[in-house]
Amino acid sequence: MNILIVGNGGREHTIACRIFNSPSFDKSQSKIYCTTGNPGIDKIAEPVDIKADQTELLLNFASEKHIDFTIVGPEVPLSLGIVDAFTNNNLKIFGPSKSASEIETSKVFSKDFMARNKIPTASYKVFDDSNYSEVHDYLNSIKFPIVIKADGLAAGKGVYIAHNIEDAVSFINDIHDNLIFGTSGLKFVIEEFLEGFEVSVFVITDGTNFKILPYAQDFKKIGENDTGKNTGGMGSFAPANFLVDDITTHKITEKIILPTLKNMKQEGREFKGCLYCGLMIVKNGDEFEPYVIEFNCRFGDPETQSVLPLIKSDFLQLLIASAENKIDDYELEVNNLFSLCIVAASGGYPEKHNTGYPVSGLEDICNDCIVFHSGTKSLDNNVITNGGRVLSVVGISNKSFKDAREIAYKSISSISFKDMYYRKDIGSKLI
Ligand code: AMP
Ligand code: GLY
Repeated sequence: MNILIVGNGGREHTIACRIFNSPSFDKSQSKIYCTTGNPGIDKIAEPVDIKADQTELLLNFASEKHIDFTIVGPEVPLSLGIVDAFTNNNLKIFGPSKSASEIETSKVFSKDFMARNKIPTASYKVFDDSNYSEVHDYLNSIKFPIVIKADGLAAGKGVYIAHNIEDAVSFINDIHDNLIFGTSGLKFVIEEFLEGFEVSVFVITDGTNFKILPYAQDFKKIGENDTGKNTGGMGSFAPANFLVDDITTHKITEKIILPTLKNMKQEGREFKGCLYCGLMIVKNGDEFEPYVIEFNCRFGDPETQSVLPLIKSDFLQLLIASAENKIDDYELEVNNLFSLCIVAASGGYPEKHNTGYPVSGLEDICNDCIVFHSGTKSLDNNVITNGGRVLSVVGISNKSFKDAREIAYKSISSISFKDMYYRKDIGSKLI
């Protein structure tokens, strides 16, 4: 079987590893290709020199190389319609169509979809050119803090929590007038700030039926104790199910997952692939209520790095079952393990940072730890840094989170590159 993985970060490295180790992946007769690879992924997959957003070239490649199954990691190719293009050419692919991807690629679509289908989310108001002149009056009429979200994709940076009017006006000027995220900020959402704790839930679905993977928690801020700028994610742990009681777990399925899938289908945007539900669990009297903070149309990064190692059943077949509408026949089995991921980033990230520094210590990693490559590349047989988030170091234990955390921190301390930065408090509250 020939597999093509689109995307080349830590998430895609994890997906490649889990496919490579799936019992149904016959290593002697099968091959994985990856656009555009990285030194970690290249150990198990052949790199392909086509960018993730070059849909036509990928389509030609898939036909020429007789690709049996394609898996899309990042949101951009999904938003460009790669799934529609492959499906129209009878090529099997994992992921949602362009119209279903809007659940992530347009915050306005996503919020309006939740509102009309009574899916719990923070109350909000949409602004665009038709009512932009009213934004100042609106800001004067509401209680702070508030959350401002650019409508379109902004590489995880389009969300801002404003504590006062000056902050809010400055961010709105940046996104709407100075177009720091291009046209993504021409429309934006202002929403109520919710207080609680967050969990990330991956739902693998064929559009109707679904399997819920172990919950995870993501650490979005750059600084310790959740301070500073938002990033793509500085660490994660899984399973996070223990954070959520049974009644709340039931509500997540009944009030969020089921109506989302049912109504996406009814609105002609059947969602297949991985629906990522970013949830805020809010205390309400003696009970907890789950609210959707965001939907993503793909696996999250770095949650994937901690969630996928927990899956015991055949991962490749899970993804194929989604594409073939056979999720109900798939038996999901989960290992009784604890995993914790720490992201090693380039100093300065998520702002300006330098790359091109040699990475050392990768060979000293023990068996209980996996290092997934995010922003790396090869130069003269050395691994060098090539992005903001460089490596995802994952500790895995069958004993406890404490153990998984110790493994991850011990391993990351043996790795180094110039200006390397990582948070020292990932999972500290677990212990
Ligand atoms: P998003 O990109 O929508 O996931 O937002 C990034 C982060 O901003 C989330 O993970 C939350 O920590 C925070 N956030 C977004 N929306 C809200 C909200 N309505 N209330 C509180 N925090 C939020
Ligand atoms: N870790 C959050 C995301 O992938 O968007």
